[in-house]
Amino acid sequence: MLTQTGRKYRPAPPIPMAARHWPTRILTSAPRWCSVDLRDGNQALATPMNPERKIRLFQMLIRLGFREIEAGFPAASQDDHDFIRHLVDGTPEGVAIQVLTTAREDHIRRTFLSLQGMPQAIVHFYLSTSPLQRRVVFHVDEKTLIQRAVVAAEQIRTLAERQPDTRWTFQFSPESFSATEPEFALAICEAVVAVWEPTPEHKVILNLPATVEVASPNRYADQMEWFGGHFSQREAVMLSVHPHNDRGCGVAAAELALLAGAERVEGALFGNGERTGNLDLVTLAMNLHSQGIETGLDFSHMAEVVACYRACTGMDISPRHPYAGDLVFTAFSGSHQDAIRKGLAGWQPGGVWEVPYLPIDPRDVGYEWSGIIRVNSQSGKAGATHLLEQERGIRLPTWLEPEWGRAVQQHTDQSGEELTGPAIAALFDRTFLHPPGGGVGMTGYQMRREEGLCHMDLQLVMDGQPRRVRGEGNGPIDAASHALSGPWRVDRYEERAMDSGSHARAIAFITLVGDDPGSEWSGVGIHEDIVSASLQALVAAINRHLATRSQANREQILSGWPIGEGVIQTGPPGDLP
Ligand code: KIV
Ligand code: ZN
Repeated sequence: MLTQTGRKYRPAPPIPMAARHWPTRILTSAPRWCSVDLRDGNQALATPMNPERKIRLFQMLIRLGFREIEAGFPAASQDDHDFIRHLVDGTPEGVAIQVLTTAREDHIRRTFLSLQGMPQAIVHFYLSTSPLQRRVVFHVDEKTLIQRAVVAAEQIRTLAERQPDTRWTFQFSPESFSATEPEFALAICEAVVAVWEPTPEHKVILNLPATVEVASPNRYADQMEWFGGHFSQREAVMLSVHPHNDRGCGVAAAELALLAGAERVEGALFGNGERTGNLDLVTLAMNLHSQGIETGLDFSHMAEVVACYRACTGMDISPRHPYAGDLVFTAFSGSHQDAIRKGLAGWQPGGVWEVPYLPIDPRDVGYEWSGIIRVNSQSGKAGATHLLEQERGIRLPTWLEPEWGRAVQQHTDQSGEELTGPAIAALFDRTFLHPPGGGVGMTGYQMRREEGLCHMDLQLVMDGQPRRVRGEGNGPIDAASHALSGPWRVDRYEERAMDSGSHARAIAFITLVGDDPGSEWSGVGIHEDIVSASLQALVAAINRHLATRSQANREQILSGWPIGEGVIQTGPPGDLP
């Protein structure tokens, strides 16, 4: 255990603010989006993307709706330079290509060379401003650093004026802003902006990065509100944020920063980027979407976005990744499944989305409802019932759900594995439709009504031998249960149509109860003929009972069945199993 943490680490100092406005605001609109996948994201890959992958990702970003894309660091890498050159002709109208450069004179010059002929470009230069970087890395004082920034800004302005056919936007990032004294960040930004002379019609971008996330998101929001409140030409600059995710709060930091006045965000798909990554643009956009905000980005085919991201970057996403992972709309837990099932059933298309445990409709990102409920040993009857309905179109009566739930639980406890749709259908067949071990099958029946009584003749196969039994009763089930009498009685019965049309099938459910408390066996029958379906359900329930008996006891029960004569030639419509 590490001790004396307080000696090794210091808390970030608070931002000097008498009052703050961001905590009481709510977000009502989306920011301007800038993807840095091809620069910050790419720089962070063990194997950077080759040109084909960059082009594929670029095209995906365009399809998603990004109109500002930082595509490289052309002065630092020949590959990036070549890619920017490729984009000169390969960029759709209305998309601004952003390039990053240091404040070095030769870097800025090469950056402009890469942009020759580009219709619309954002030139983004950065200088690290935190006291730590000034002291340990650059060995410069504040004044010298501001001077460097001013010189770079002047060079950028001059070179841009020499290429008037390009629509230019200038951007400055005081790198390590999150760890910089607010007053110094303000001073260096004021100096740069004074060189560029922006107007409200032609703004410059001040990008205030959490290069390293060093404090909680509320502090980043304070930094943003403080900066916006003190900057002299606020209406002539666009405040942008660029959070990294070192404390795992990148998305939260961006949201609070937007509340605090930021108007633009830079980030990467699924948070790719240096160390713990950049702000995850997918999560931020979908968070806004979940609040009813039009984002201007289209994540309605999330699986495609994930596939493209994997193929291009070689990175993967967690199955728990918000809005995109394989498991993020999945419920295994029984109580969640029950609530989701009820919520989905109660939701009216076109109405406000209100489904427990699902912050958004999974179909908004192209995921089907069918994948929501999955069944394992943590699941209850609701999930098993729902999955059966999905897989087979069988809607169980509520009274049968607990018995079905127990059968599923027993199975999943034994196997320890998830039950897929087909596996759940097979388990249902084994449990209720064709339970093994009873030895009784029914091949036909004849039924007639006389003087208010129903006479039922049943053709059976018992242990491979044909057998005919008969009984009378008030109706078919009553008559059949007298023909197939035993230490049980029919306790519950329900039948309904399964599908519609001329070949519609009926489904019947029967529960027998025995003499012992709590002993019950249910059976299900499916047939186009409703009586056949009911008889089949009865025989299935009896088979389940018989399967629990000793051989002697079973024979004793079967010997009590009233024997009929001959063989029934005509049965019900269709074959009875
Ligand atoms: O994280 C960062 O500070 C950067 C800058 C270059 C904006 O990527
Ligand atoms: Zn970054």
